[in-house]
Amino acid sequence: MPAPQPPPALDAAAVDRLVAQAEAAFQAAATTAELRGAKSDHAGDQAPLSLANRAMRQVPPELRAAVGARLGAARAAVERAWSERDQVLAAAELAQRLAAERVDVTLPVSLAPVGAPHPVTALMDQLGDVFVAMGWEIAEGPEVEAEWMNFDALNLGPHHPARATSDTLFVAPPKNHLVLRTHTSPVQIRSLLTRPLPVYVVCPGTTYRADEFDATHVPVFHQIEGLAVDRGITLGHLKGTLDHLAQTMFGPVVTRLRPSYFPFTEPSAEVDLECFVCHGDSVGQPDRPCRTCASEGWIEWGGCGVVNPRVLKACGVDPDEYSGFAFGMGVERTLMFRNAAADMRDMVEGDVRFSRALIGGAR
Ligand code: DAH
Repeated sequence: MPAPQPPPALDAAAVDRLVAQAEAAFQAAATTAELRGAKSDHAGDQAPLSLANRAMRQVPPELRAAVGARLGAARAAVERAWSERDQVLAAAELAQRLAAERVDVTLPVSLAPVGAPHPVTALMDQLGDVFVAMGWEIAEGPEVEAEWMNFDALNLGPHHPARATSDTLFVAPPKNHLVLRTHTSPVQIRSLLTRPLPVYVVCPGTTYRADEFDATHVPVFHQIEGLAVDRGITLGHLKGTLDHLAQTMFGPVVTRLRPSYFPFTEPSAEVDLECFVCHGDSVGQPDRPCRTCASEGWIEWGGCGVVNPRVLKACGVDPDEYSGFAFGMGVERTLMFRNAAADMRDMVEGDVRFSRALIGGAR
């Protein structure tokens, strides 16, 4: 009796041939896409090796283990051949794509220079926002101002030294009595003349003085003015408002009112800031000097006071019924303290790097 034979599809030579064909097809594939096609031809459901599996039923039982093992090894060999080729082709394709998409980061770029809001403008907006949040309004006035608004209505008499040409820039011809406003205080007058009472306004704006241009003076600068006129306004309201403003600008500091004189307020004060760097700890401590306040413990910030009844009268407001407070600060000065900007000239030179550094980051 002849020895039992596997069906022809499963004899060793036939199976080896199928493996060899698969390997040749995988080698011939030049891309992963072609390889996918070859895989389905040689290892897919309809591939000869898969179909050969079905002939197992015809294998005599005593040969089944050996034939099954051969078939399993053949399928594993095909799978391995595919996987090796797939790795080679995928790596080649990745390398090709990386080469094609390569960017030379050393090439010069032409970035259009982008500007930045000027720190003085940004700070004026922030200062205004503090008051808008409390329900105040922003008021504006002209930079070329009537002499009467800038001086007379503010109780600066005709011979007040501030009118002198050494401080004030007059606009020709003299008979027009126009000046470049020397402070934002005339906006107090304009607000009282045009708005219904009560009045709560802040007036940020540009101001001009015939000053030398140096590290601490610029002839064109900015101020923010505040005016509150209502029934029952006291110095206490002024102090609370200034403390709030100081804290939003400089963190937890307090203000000090130091008696002073302004024609448009009575009483008048200079408002000092408690030094927000040393909080007074440097006073009388030569071993721990503070550059921000020159070891004084306080920094002069601006002027303020209770609105002089003569100003109210000049604007048709009855001082027996209404009272008010006012204040005015330099914006550049505030910026110097807040951002440790030591030299005012940086603020007018227009170098965008200064603006970017102060308002935070490139844009
Ligand atoms: N206008 C003053 C100046 O430019 C600053 C000032 C002082 C404004 C007192 C005020 C104030 O409103 O009450 O020096």
